[in-house]
Amino acid sequence: MQQHPIKVEPLTPRLPAFHFGGDYNPEQWTPTFGYEDETIWKEDMRIMQLASVNVATIGVFAWVSLQPDEHTFTFGWLDRVMDMLSEHSIFACLATGTAAQPAWLSAAYPDVLPVDEQRLRRGHGNRQNYCPTSPDFRRLSRGLAWHLAERYHDHPALLLWHVSNEYGPRCCCDRCAARFRDWLQARYGSLEEVNRRWVTAFWSHTYTAWEQIIPPGPYTEPSIQGLLLDYQRFMSDMNLECYRGEAEILHRLSPGVPVTTNFMGFYKPLDYYSWAPDLDVISWDSYPQRSDPPSAVALRHDLMRGLKAGQSWLLMEQTPSQVQWAAQNPLKRPGVMRLLSYQAVARGSDAVLYFQWRQSRGSAEKYHGAIVSHAGHEHTRVFREVAALGAELKALGNGILGTRLPARVALVFSWPNWWNIEYTPGPSSSLHYVEEVLHYYRPLWERNIAVDVVPPERDLSGYDLVVAPLMNMVSAEQGAAIERYVQNGGTFVSTYFSGVVDESDRAWLGGAPGPLRRTLGLWVEEFDPLEPDMTNCVIVQADGRLPEGSYTCKLWCDLVHLEGANALASFGDDFYAGLPAITEHRLGRGRAIYVATHLELELVASLVGALLDDLGITAPLQGPEGVEVTRREGDGRSYTFVLNHNLFSVNVLLPTTMRNLLTGARHEKEVLLPAREVAILVTEPSPSLDGTA
Ligand code: GLA
Ligand code: ZN
Repeated sequence: MQQHPIKVEPLTPRLPAFHFGGDYNPEQWTPTFGYEDETIWKEDMRIMQLASVNVATIGVFAWVSLQPDEHTFTFGWLDRVMDMLSEHSIFACLATGTAAQPAWLSAAYPDVLPVDEQRLRRGHGNRQNYCPTSPDFRRLSRGLAWHLAERYHDHPALLLWHVSNEYGPRCCCDRCAARFRDWLQARYGSLEEVNRRWVTAFWSHTYTAWEQIIPPGPYTEPSIQGLLLDYQRFMSDMNLECYRGEAEILHRLSPGVPVTTNFMGFYKPLDYYSWAPDLDVISWDSYPQRSDPPSAVALRHDLMRGLKAGQSWLLMEQTPSQVQWAAQNPLKRPGVMRLLSYQAVARGSDAVLYFQWRQSRGSAEKYHGAIVSHAGHEHTRVFREVAALGAELKALGNGILGTRLPARVALVFSWPNWWNIEYTPGPSSSLHYVEEVLHYYRPLWERNIAVDVVPPERDLSGYDLVVAPLMNMVSAEQGAAIERYVQNGGTFVSTYFSGVVDESDRAWLGGAPGPLRRTLGLWVEEFDPLEPDMTNCVIVQADGRLPEGSYTCKLWCDLVHLEGANALASFGDDFYAGLPAITEHRLGRGRAIYVATHLELELVASLVGALLDDLGITAPLQGPEGVEVTRREGDGRSYTFVLNHNLFSVNVLLPTTMRNLLTGARHEKEVLLPAREVAILVTEPSPSLDGTA
């Protein structure tokens, strides 16, 4: 379908360069509390310059250092640090510091502390440990944001605002219960409608007064699925209100300075799609485990990029070496940090930022990796790797910034659907939504096809292929939009257990796949969630477009009846042997595919591959296995990223002569990439055109 020219805009107008640096907590490593000794800060500035650092994320946990009691503010040290940063041409990603409230605050306002599902009030400590509806928390956090914005809005170092840090508190206190009732009233209008949505006649749960509605808890209402679902939505919204409260002040007092908060990829408690419009720039913290395949990391980057329809974003945190919070915390091997950094850039990041600059002296994160270790100097492997990358990104200039990854394929993801699948009692506790999404993403990644991850509400008309695995929850509107999409020529793929319930988790009467029934051309009479030792098989006949054979399937089988669709494969075993396992329905100018089971990856890859071939969707380049390729484009420029995730060298064939921006070398037919090496390729103008090369 139609592609529009991409217009490139910088994310943060003041710094048209790759953002490089990271969390800088100078208040945490002064020998004395306060700002008497600048020696170590001066040393920080010297070492930052050696590493080409241009952004310091400052003050993320500095609340008590900025406000030692409710009526006293101590900005002196921050004034000094902000000035030092700008004297050294380093910009500040200035945090509002409100992610962890000081002990004085919890002591003065004990009901700021959250109440958990057991109805126990938590003690002070940790971080994100507050009730998100607390008026005192909101007032005091907004107050600190106001003072910071007042003081620094025209400071030359100010680049970007960083509100709080990794939002996510949850609370079930009486005030949250009252706010929840207001929220429900605003959403549904009447108690009768709430009863209808939650199907409360079941087990005599019908509410006759608003006050009877209480947050979920172990001995309260775990059986009302609609309540659990709406409480998730409500908590996500209350967290968002906290963010908004601060962001509104920052926007007002420092117009033009972008505002962000750092996200966490597939973070279950918050529906980031509903947050994204309130952020000027998406930023997120990427902490892949050693066992994560590169495709899983790529999917998280694509999820985050999709929040703002493909706009470039900021890698706000990653560890330069190791974390401290896993069971074991192995080092990133030489070259891994650089490869993962370029993977983020290849998938749309305009920043490589770290947690954190200097290793903290004590407390929970003293064993977390940092650019400057407890040794305190720059003569370390980690520092050398970071500094080398800093120099390299600087040398790349600003051409790549703001460019996008045009995609013809969309992968649908939905937070409410995730909550619903995994919190509902039955029919199978083995369903893992994100894993199923990854199962379909993986073959796309292996073929180096650009994918936009989108919510079900997004306009799909710009995509040739839309893949929506395990879309259990489908509203009438979403169903109608998907039908229009297919009628108008789109190709839609969905899988088992889809179209079963509506947005309130009420089963679609008439049976599954509910509002997708006409689109998919079938109905599901029964579903069979398999126990872990059960499998079935999927038989593909010789005459189809899928490779003939018998393939394993497990986890789930839908018993499907065709209503216009054709079977592309069928089940091989059990009493439903012969029933369709993969179907295709031609509708209008498009078609819809249904996969009635959890297929083994090989067959998913063949299916996805056949669809891509039919649609003529190809990769910018195709390397050997373990080589990731993306293309960023904009304003007539085009950058092809090639990343070798293998531990051995590979040759990648090129369609034309290209130049590697990282080495300056010209490659005519192929480029040799050593283990964990990266190339950023641009098309070399042919000598006859510019007469120089
Ligand atoms: C998160 C936080 C940081 C730090 C790191 C440690 O991403 O935002 O403050 O705790 O984790 O990995
Ligand atoms: Zn509360």
